[in-house]
Amino acid sequence: MELKRRDFLKKITVAGAGVALAPNIISANETKAAKGFKKKKSNDKINIAFIGVGGRGRGHVGLVAKYKNIDITAICDVDPKAIKATQKILRDHSRKEASVYTGDDHAYLKMLERDDIDGVIIASPWLWHTPMAVAAMRAGIYAGIEVSAANTIEECWDLVNTSEETGVPCMILENVCYAREAMSVLKMVREGVFGEIVHATCGYKHDLRGVKFNPGVKFGKDAWGEARWRTEHSLKRNGDIYPTHGIGPVATWFDINRGNRFVSLTSVATKSTGLHKYIVDHPKGGKEHPNAKLKWKLGDIVTTTISTANGETIILSHDTNLPRPYSWGFELHGNKGVWGGQFEGKRIYIEGESEPHKWSTGEAYDKYFNKYDHKLWKEEAAKAEGAGHGGIDYFTIKQFIESVQNEVQPPIDVYDAAVWSAITPLSESSIASGGSPQFFPDFTRGKWMTNKPVFGLE
Ligand SMILES: NC(=O)c1ccc[n+]([C@@H]2O[C@H](COP(=O)([O-])OP(=O)(O)OC[C@H]3O[C@@H](n4cnc5c(N)ncnc54)[C@H](O)[C@@H]3O)[C@@H](O)[C@H]2O)c1
Repeated sequence: MELKRRDFLKKITVAGAGVALAPNIISANETKAAKGFKKKKSNDKINIAFIGVGGRGRGHVGLVAKYKNIDITAICDVDPKAIKATQKILRDHSRKEASVYTGDDHAYLKMLERDDIDGVIIASPWLWHTPMAVAAMRAGIYAGIEVSAANTIEECWDLVNTSEETGVPCMILENVCYAREAMSVLKMVREGVFGEIVHATCGYKHDLRGVKFNPGVKFGKDAWGEARWRTEHSLKRNGDIYPTHGIGPVATWFDINRGNRFVSLTSVATKSTGLHKYIVDHPKGGKEHPNAKLKWKLGDIVTTTISTANGETIILSHDTNLPRPYSWGFELHGNKGVWGGQFEGKRIYIEGESEPHKWSTGEAYDKYFNKYDHKLWKEEAAKAEGAGHGGIDYFTIKQFIESVQNEVQPPIDVYDAAVWSAITPLSESSIASGGSPQFFPDFTRGKWMTNKPVFGLE
């Protein structure tokens, strides 16, 4: 049954190659229904493969390995140490070692030729996300891509066009959407607690200096982990290069692509001082270190203001090169009240309920969050315990797996992947042109006007 489905998807892909893309929007379900595909039974086994099993990918392997109804038969990475560590995770979960695809940067293409893979989780460096996801969809394999999904507007369209052309879904694995507070706020928004929503702040505020240089002040080929590839982006790009942790949850609160859309943005960047200072001050660096001579392009703080079709604004920050505690910077403003998230003092003010002009904090704050706790968390908090980032990774992977299992579109889809990721190139263009407005393409081709919200429905 499964072979038939994949053969079909491969055939339409080959037939479609080189043909101008028709802008017909079809869901995986519609495609399969039209071809008479038999739906999987809920107890059918599925097979999930992995491309990129570094720190993040191995976290996902550990989560997927806990599912008894999932096989993990193939993994791909260019680093033998990553492969070895992944096989150990599989053995530790009493599983067989997976077949390995390695040796060069394009080994993943060979892996995607297998006809036993239903879904693939892609946790490679950013520049690989789109080509890998496109190849997966072309092979008829559900793609789950780490954040961000794309680096250029062209890549955003590649994701959308490929998913539409093949009918194969693609989910951006944006875990902050599943944060307990983000999901409660979503419920509060839907139930009108804040009145009509007008504004939000959000961002990625994370001192990554020790990740960008590791060990010491090294980055690039001889470094470890993300210092091998992420740091290069700070050297060459000035924009919000990691927008989705902040914008993902806000997009769910604002019904983006589902009754609303991002229209335009403007971005500004501060000067760049943080990375240079880190190198100079580091015991393994110093003023004479070759890396102290580099000119870093990324401003220490990049601030982006987004306008939406429904008249809201959003201020998004990228702040990874200065000393600071971690934060998503969430605030949400409506015409009945305002909320500041777990890193912004856990405070809420609802007119007529809070003491006039005073934040409700402590127990008064918890009362709201207990009342609007989302069903997903109420039912499965215990299962999520121990999963990465306070349990949010558990829900992200669970929803990807359920979409593959049930052969349906994921609740965070390819249009979300495209429009959230588009912030990076648009913010780069805005900064480069002195803060001029940049306009978002409508990746849904008008469907945002009739699409209904799907994320976090209870
Ligand atoms: N959502 C989150 O909270 C979160 C957290 C951490 C990382 N991430 C994202 O996950 C992705 C991976 O990050 P990481 O921290 O695991 O980085 P990492 O450097 O530890 O892992 C990346 C892996 O990809 C492998 N790789 C590189 N090129 C490859 C290729 N052509 N084919 C196959 N494998 C290849 C590397 O060898 C490495 O093992 C990034 O996109 C990052 O932004 C997300």
